[in-house]
Amino acid sequence: MPEYKLVISGGRELRGETSVSGGKNTSLAVIPAALLADYPCQIENLPDIDDVRVLVRILRSLGAKVDWHPEAKQMVIDPGTVTSNTVPFALSQKMRASYYLMGALLGRYGSARVGYPGGCDLGSRPIDQHLKGFRALGASIRDENGMIVTEGRLKGANINFDMVTVGGTINVMLAAVRAEGDTLMTNCAKEPHIVDTANFLNRIGAHIRGAGTDTIRIHGVSRLGGASYTVIPDQIETGTLMIAAAATRGDVTLHGCIPTHMEALTAKLLEMGVMVTSQDDVISVKLRQGHRAIRLSTQEYPGFPTDLQQPMSALLTRAVGTSEVIENIFESRFKHLDEMRKMGAKAVINGRVAHIEGVPELHAAPVYAPDLRGGAALVIAGLMAHGTTEIYNPENIARGYEHLENKLNRLGASISRMPCVNEVNGDAIRV
Ligand code: UD1
Repeated sequence: MPEYKLVISGGRELRGETSVSGGKNTSLAVIPAALLADYPCQIENLPDIDDVRVLVRILRSLGAKVDWHPEAKQMVIDPGTVTSNTVPFALSQKMRASYYLMGALLGRYGSARVGYPGGCDLGSRPIDQHLKGFRALGASIRDENGMIVTEGRLKGANINFDMVTVGGTINVMLAAVRAEGDTLMTNCAKEPHIVDTANFLNRIGAHIRGAGTDTIRIHGVSRLGGASYTVIPDQIETGTLMIAAAATRGDVTLHGCIPTHMEALTAKLLEMGVMVTSQDDVISVKLRQGHRAIRLSTQEYPGFPTDLQQPMSALLTRAVGTSEVIENIFESRFKHLDEMRKMGAKAVINGRVAHIEGVPELHAAPVYAPDLRGGAALVIAGLMAHGTTEIYNPENIARGYEHLENKLNRLGASISRMPCVNEVNGDAIRV
């Protein structure tokens, strides 16, 4: 693992144009979904991020042939050589989306042994709804030394999720596409990457209807072909760059995005006084004056995404007035605000509610990236702050953003990677 920190020289406006990368969360679902195919699949527009690197290691450890060309954003996956149903615990723990290997391997081979998933620490993140769906389809489930073992010949079933879950919706969909008979899933999540994963599966011959609504119907098929598929742009990277543009009172145009996926964020930015315009696959964000405080409440799509709550609350630390941010999806998603207090931010956190009193200025400080989106929030804080901010543990950011600092630097930021050096004895340290 790299031992580096990000060093940001703050106070520069972001200006210019850049392109959005392929979606992280959609890629992390479509790559395991390719294991369901009977022929090789070519996936285009994949982001070059650490979570994709981990997934490639997982697929290769199963025996799949994977040719990945990050510079071409393209990957060819041949599932025909898979010999194992076991995802090693250490690899499962490296990311949340390792849970998709359960649905994909169970759906394709009738059994899977996968370690409990890792990912960002946002409070309790159970996967009971995934397992409930597998059970309904006829799988048995047991725990074997930290590995979840699922087995069974799957048959279509009716599944009503007890809560709206993105991962659960996709995972059960993966398991059901090759099950015998019809599956009806209700109270499903509607995020864009659920639609994208269903579109990919349909492209290779699955029969899924209703993805993007709360009811998904699947007619199980016994064979799936192969195909070439281009994943959608990253909704959260788009939003992070929009927020960064506003935070620096800049003027940025983003290409290759899907403006309809950004409506909840766009509405809030407009409410704050940020200028946002869009046409076709282009979004422009401009801010001249200060911005106003708002109330914000995270919700499932098409509501305000929890993944953008952290970057957005960083922006709110400099709004005029006091903002209220309610985090409805995860129980612990404000650690970035604790870090930002070191930079002069004023925030009172009470469980899932944060009250953020805008301050005229932030000052630089050494801070610790608590998780992926919290890390992005701190990058935005560093861009706004006076002085030189150091962000430790930036590996969290590289898990899900494609070369974020390069993209921001091309827009006028000053962010560099520096080795982490222990100032006491000069040794490189891990933080
Ligand atoms: C996915 C995204 C993540 C995003 C989140 C919400 C991926 C890889 N990750 O995470 O970036 O922040 O959606 O948009 O796509 N829950 C249960 N039982 C379950 C499943 C979920 O109680 O079986 C709870 C969770 O603890 C959480 C809520 O439901 O409080 C939503 O979780 P879910 O939508 O499943 O999020 P993830 O799939 O973990």
